[in-house]
Amino acid sequence: MKIIMLGAPGAGKGTQAKMIAEKYSVPHISTGDIFRANIKNGTELGMEAKKYMDQGLLVPDELTVKILLDRVANEDCKNGYVLDGFPRTIPQAQVLDKALTELGDKIDYAINVEVPDENIVKRMGGRRACLSCGATYHIEHVPPKAEGICDTCGKELVLRDDDKSETVMNRLDVYHKQTQPLIDFYSAKGVLQTVDGTVDMKDVFAAIIAILG
Ligand code: AP5
Ligand code: MG
Repeated sequence: MKIIMLGAPGAGKGTQAKMIAEKYSVPHISTGDIFRANIKNGTELGMEAKKYMDQGLLVPDELTVKILLDRVANEDCKNGYVLDGFPRTIPQAQVLDKALTELGDKIDYAINVEVPDENIVKRMGGRRACLSCGATYHIEHVPPKAEGICDTCGKELVLRDDDKSETVMNRLDVYHKQTQPLIDFYSAKGVLQTVDGTVDMKDVFAAIIAILG
């Protein structure tokens, strides 16, 4: 099963993708997480990506596409995957589409997690992230057991640099201009499904399971 998560920054793509990946035993692939891991490890790719991410801009397609295509060619992707944060532009979607078509394959579902902009800004200020293992919390909705400490790996939780309110506004702007057109792209392919992302995350997940079966 090959799934794409669509939705604004902070809509809950990562939260839902993780649950889908566990339930259906497929890898959860987040380009954002891949970039953050590279930044943390000080790689050349990380340094380049950080310039864009800190401003809330998209990392150029040339860098992003290669990473993603390499990742989905891994053995663990044989039975499918959940893509979270990719594609984010029409050219990215076209490259993925072409690569899959060449393999006689296709995306099964594009799940659009719909949340209005007003809700997004509130959510992001409360998010805390573990830069070590990628786990995400929310100070009100999903608090860690011990304040500021990751439940999974025990490392310190941080407010992501790009979750500061000014950068969130830029990310929303970029989302509407560059990523939202993907809703029509996948709708035209007949694989688009939309769920209400404003309800409790368990209910969002239930709606997604009802679609995936
Ligand atoms: P990325 O890491 O993908 O960030 P994003 O899309 O901006 O999305 P987020 O991770 O911020 O939000 P999310 O939808 O995953 O929400 P989450 O589940 O965490 O990308 C970061 C940057 O990397 C980009 O800006 C770009 O620069 C670059 N990049 C990445 N991919 C790229 C690509 N393909 N091309 C170019 N550049 C790329 O939830 C958010 C918060 O809300 C959490 O605290 C969570 O606990 C809480 N929450 C979730 N669901 C609910 C709910 N139902 N109710 C209440 N709270 C909830
Ligand atoms: Mg995410």
